[in-house]
Amino acid sequence: MEANKIIHGDCIEVMREMPNNCVDLIITDPPYGDNVAYGLNKKVIKNNENPLINCSALVECYRVLKKNSSLYLFTNWKHYPFLTEFIVRYTKFNIRHLVVWKKHNFGLGWAFRHQYELILILEKGKPKYNLKDFSDVQTCSHINHNKENHPHEKPIDLITKMILHSSKENSVVLDPFCGSGSVCLACQQTGRRWIGIELDERYVEMAKGRII
Ligand SMILES: C[S@@+](CC[C@H](N)C(=O)[O-])C[C@H]1O[C@@H](n2cnc3c(N)ncnc32)[C@H](O)[C@@H]1O
Repeated sequence: MEANKIIHGDCIEVMREMPNNCVDLIITDPPYGDNVAYGLNKKVIKNNENPLINCSALVECYRVLKKNSSLYLFTNWKHYPFLTEFIVRYTKFNIRHLVVWKKHNFGLGWAFRHQYELILILEKGKPKYNLKDFSDVQTCSHINHNKENHPHEKPIDLITKMILHSSKENSVVLDPFCGSGSVCLACQQTGRRWIGIELDERYVEMAKGRII
C-alpha cells in the first residue's frame, strides 16, 4: 500500500479500493452524529447528521485491517449504545475495552459541561499491546477550537500514546475520517507510515498544511 498521503474522498469508497489486511492499526474520530454546527463561525461537519456512516465504515475497516490488530474509535456517550450494538451484531470486531479521555479543561455550555470523551478499543484477532502504563483513563487537555482549526482536532499527545501502544516503527496506520490530520501528524512524528482519508476539501488542505 502506498502510504504517507491524504486522500480526498469518501472513506467508504476509498477503502473499498484497498486490499484486504493492508493496515496495521486504525485510529479514527468519525462524525459523532450530533447534528450541530460548531463554534462562533458555525463550522459544519460533513455527515455529522448521519450516525450510520460509522457503521458502514467499520465494515470496511475490519476488512482492510490486518489480523491481530486494533482499532481505536472515538465516540461519545450518546452515540455509544447504538455503536456497540451495531458492532456486536453486524461486525466481527471484538470490543476489548472502553477508554475514557478525561480533559483537564472543560468545554463551553452550561449544566453538564463536557469534560470527557470515549474511545472504544476494537480488535481483529488477538493484538499485542506495547506499553505497561496505558490506563483506561487517559488525561489530556483538549484543543481549543478557534477560527483557524478543525472543531474536533484531537491532541497529538493522546494519539501518540495509542500509536506507541499498538504499532511498531514503519507500521501503516489508517485514519479514514482524518479531519485536520492529527493522527497522520502523530504518525509522522513517531516513524509510522500513515494514510488519511477526508471528505471535506477544506480539511484536506488543512491536514496537508500541518504535515507535508
Ligand atoms: C470528528 S472529525 C475528525 C477530526 C480529526 N480527529 C482532527 O484531529 O482533525 C470527522 C471528519 O470526518 C470527515 N468525514 C465525514 N464523512 C466522511 C467520509 N464519508 N469520508 C471521509 N471523511 C469524512 C468530516 O469532514 C470531518 O472532518
